[in-house]
Amino acid sequence: MNPVPSSDRMENVHSDIRGPVFEKAMQMVSAGIDVLRLNTGNPATFGFTMPDSVRTALISNVDKAVGYCDLKGMPDARKAICDYHVGKGILDLTMDDVFIGNGVSEVVNMAMTTFLNPGDEMLIPSPSYSLWTNMAYIAGATPVLYRCDEASEWYPDVADIRRKITPKTRAILIINPNNPTGSLYSKDVIEQIVQIAREHKLIMCSDEIYDRLVMDELEHVSTAALAPDLPVFTFNGLSKSHIVCGFRCGWLAISGPRRQIGGLIASMTKLAAMRLCGNALTQLVIPAALEDEESTKALIAPGGRIYEQREATIKALDQIEGITYVKNSAAFYLFPKIDTRKFNITSDKKFVLDLLESKHILLVAGSGFDWPEPDHFRIVMLPESKVLSGAIQEIGDFLSTYRQE
Ligand SMILES: Cc1ncc(COP(=O)(O)O)c(C=O)c1O
Repeated sequence: MNPVPSSDRMENVHSDIRGPVFEKAMQMVSAGIDVLRLNTGNPATFGFTMPDSVRTALISNVDKAVGYCDLKGMPDARKAICDYHVGKGILDLTMDDVFIGNGVSEVVNMAMTTFLNPGDEMLIPSPSYSLWTNMAYIAGATPVLYRCDEASEWYPDVADIRRKITPKTRAILIINPNNPTGSLYSKDVIEQIVQIAREHKLIMCSDEIYDRLVMDELEHVSTAALAPDLPVFTFNGLSKSHIVCGFRCGWLAISGPRRQIGGLIASMTKLAAMRLCGNALTQLVIPAALEDEESTKALIAPGGRIYEQREATIKALDQIEGITYVKNSAAFYLFPKIDTRKFNITSDKKFVLDLLESKHILLVAGSGFDWPEPDHFRIVMLPESKVLSGAIQEIGDFLSTYRQE
């Protein structure tokens, strides 16, 4: 029998974070080579541990999670999530508007199924975490990339968003704080994007999974709080803020005028019912985790690991000629620019592969985040400061002689 083809919708689906360069790295690891993996935002890999609050909540409640739970999520957990978002200004949100799933990844899939028809367009940032473009393809829709502007702190280019609206546009996504740039958006820029959605009657999607990882005493502004008159899908979860990526704990809160969002909530409810419920074990920890703000704050304050690792990274990068960057205000990612002329780089994928083979350091090329030019890469700043400084010196050493053919 001939090879069985995949569906057409899979053609553009890509995951460079775990793509061909990652596979090469895994072959090297199998061959006994020690590879420094700066490719995934998985804090547990680098010695971060979940807070005691989460561990205690899980262990002391474990027996409550043996049955299927409420299809939208356990009431205590949804109440805690609802209180959290009301506290951030989504004033009319109720527990019934909250859906808990197996990570933000699952609820993004479900949400996009509720509002995208084949042929629809969705505005998605470039660069961005590839989950979103992939889910648009899977929904049979077209992701239309708008540019984020490195010269303006990586904020979305609002004029570019406006230019790219067509009669087929259904929704605008912002990822704030952003992966891969670590940029935190100002209230002003969010308001401008919300205004475009308002004028064109679009759904706003706001991926806020890094909202508790904001540094430098800055404050995260919730998109939905600025748009009570619009349908807004707000995504959040505990993977990063509470070091429990493997628990698969994320949620969606749908806000906006009741008559506009009723059908979307009904569709989400059908999808939630189809998979019976989300993982109940993870839901046990949500109330305790959202109450425990201190453990996350300790990581992002001066002296905390995430803060200090960022400082060590940028100090080391400052020593490398041919690399520039915009300092991140949130999360643990940096998206530096590489001088492609100096190093004659025409392929960012080849650059990260050559670096991997030479220095055993695994990065992700900018193109893996739907960035159109070969001039960026993402660093995950999760290893200890000393390890990061050493790795960046190695990158500098590699670049001192590197020229692409
Ligand atoms: C911006 C963004 N959204 C969503 C996710 C998925 O998170 P989860 O672990 O909740 O599925 C990630 C994971 O890295 C992310 O960076």
